[in-house]
Amino acid sequence: MTPSQIQEFYKNQTVFITGSTGLLGKLVLRKLLTTCEPKKIYLLIRQHKEKSPEERLEMLLESADLRRDQSEFKGKIFVIKGDCGLPGLGISQFDRETLINDTTCIIHIAATIKFNEHLRLAAYVNVRAVQDLLNLAKQVRDLKAMVHVSTAYSNCNQKDLIKEQFYEPGMTATKLLKILGCLDDETVTNITPEVLGSWPNSYTFTKAVAENVVKTEAQNMPICIVRPAILMGAFQEPEPGWLDAIQGITAFLMGTYLGLIHCHLADVKPIYLIPSDYTANIILAAACYATEKTSPPPIYNYTGFEKNLLTKSKLYEYGKLSTKLYPSVHAVNACLLIFTKNKYYLKFLQFWLHLVPAYIVDLICLSLGKNRRFVKMYQKVHRMCDALGYFNVNFWKYETTNCETLWKALEEKDRELFPFNMENLEWWDFFGKCVIYARINFLKDPMHTLPQAKRKQKFIAFFYYCIAFVLVCVLWRLF
Ligand SMILES: NC(=O)c1ccc[n+]([C@@H]2O[C@H](COP(=O)([O-])OP(=O)(O)OC[C@H]3O[C@@H](n4cnc5c(N)ncnc54)[C@H](OP(=O)(O)O)[C@@H]3O)[C@@H](O)[C@H]2O)c1
Repeated sequence: MTPSQIQEFYKNQTVFITGSTGLLGKLVLRKLLTTCEPKKIYLLIRQHKEKSPEERLEMLLESADLRRDQSEFKGKIFVIKGDCGLPGLGISQFDRETLINDTTCIIHIAATIKFNEHLRLAAYVNVRAVQDLLNLAKQVRDLKAMVHVSTAYSNCNQKDLIKEQFYEPGMTATKLLKILGCLDDETVTNITPEVLGSWPNSYTFTKAVAENVVKTEAQNMPICIVRPAILMGAFQEPEPGWLDAIQGITAFLMGTYLGLIHCHLADVKPIYLIPSDYTANIILAAACYATEKTSPPPIYNYTGFEKNLLTKSKLYEYGKLSTKLYPSVHAVNACLLIFTKNKYYLKFLQFWLHLVPAYIVDLICLSLGKNRRFVKMYQKVHRMCDALGYFNVNFWKYETTNCETLWKALEEKDRELFPFNMENLEWWDFFGKCVIYARINFLKDPMHTLPQAKRKQKFIAFFYYCIAFVLVCVLWRLF
């Protein structure tokens, strides 16, 4: 069969990917391996919790669901041991030379996405690594294209329309790294709010500084920036402490689903959710069009397509529907969704619906000699809600012309192989599938437990009505 334009682009290329062990990186890797025929793929992987990069590659191939074709793919994939938190990406001279001689395409996905990461680590991983990677890329003999993955929220301090253009960062990378070089960690913590200025956290701030690095240091390079909104739809493998492992809105939805969050959103404005696999597709497609060395490099705000944006009220409706249709037996509380913009009401709900029951259950656990975990769990969830709150109650509008133009430029075959147009996305269909997928794979809760889960929800609701009844009686007696 004749390859499509994108397939032709990657045919026999050597692609260097960072961040392949993460949510998005896995999808990019999988798509590249299953849809295209690259000659080689180099993956920058760091040592992690006693696991060597090589062992992590084995795990990655399993989790990226490439089991069937592992033997075929294995010969193409090579590990580059490194760490974006270290100078020069922590890679050996030998590997560096290999990359310089061999690579033809670079996809930089790695980042620390923890909103409130210590500024030093966030700056090293999200900013210095971009500088180091660009230095390396400039030496690559035959670089055809490079994609830098940023975020739609890198310029979230802009209050109007966020265009597909560069904005002034709070600070240049040189200045930021110089400051960090002179101060100890504690002082850095103390001055962080001042450094961040109008950015809400170290993640968005460092992503903005990194974009400026691309602007100033990647002139005349075949590079582009993709700024995705909030990814949804493919999940990390469950791990202990899984709430940390899943991302933004997914965590929020799963939390709601388990009865952990009674959340912090409102109104009919759009919420920028995007399917993760579509994001992988636009990244791969964008690389093909980065070859032209446009100055300044093109930026793609991948936040959805204007004609079919998901609104917060729809999200509310779908959230409610999915908790009603597919509750889980593992729910620890009522699966209840309340949207509010009022932070006092939110605190009130968190106190009565989370902390009070959690203290009661923990007290029972204590008296039975069991582990107390509910209060801690809810406190963690509340911290997460606070971190997400800024993004939930603020509103941005995005220019998406470049994304839409890119879509129009794709030939029919590529549109089928690498879909990312969201105009015809059936949101409920997508949303419902995500919930079912997560229920089965994530919570290990098969669908046949649904009746039991629904009974459990009724029981919890009954429990709340009883408490409310007792409270009303007590108040009645008192007054
Ligand atoms: N998730 C979203 O909703 C979202 C939205 C917009 C933009 N993005 C952007 O998309 C990219 C990927 O995000 P994601 O959701 O896939 O994040 P993720 O699941 O946390 O993955 C992050 C990746 O970066 C790697 N990484 C982190 N620190 C590293 C270091 N010091 N050295 C080497 N590798 C390191 C991680 O490797 P380890 O496995 O070793 O930790 C992992 O492969 C990021 O650039 C992020 O800014 C994400």
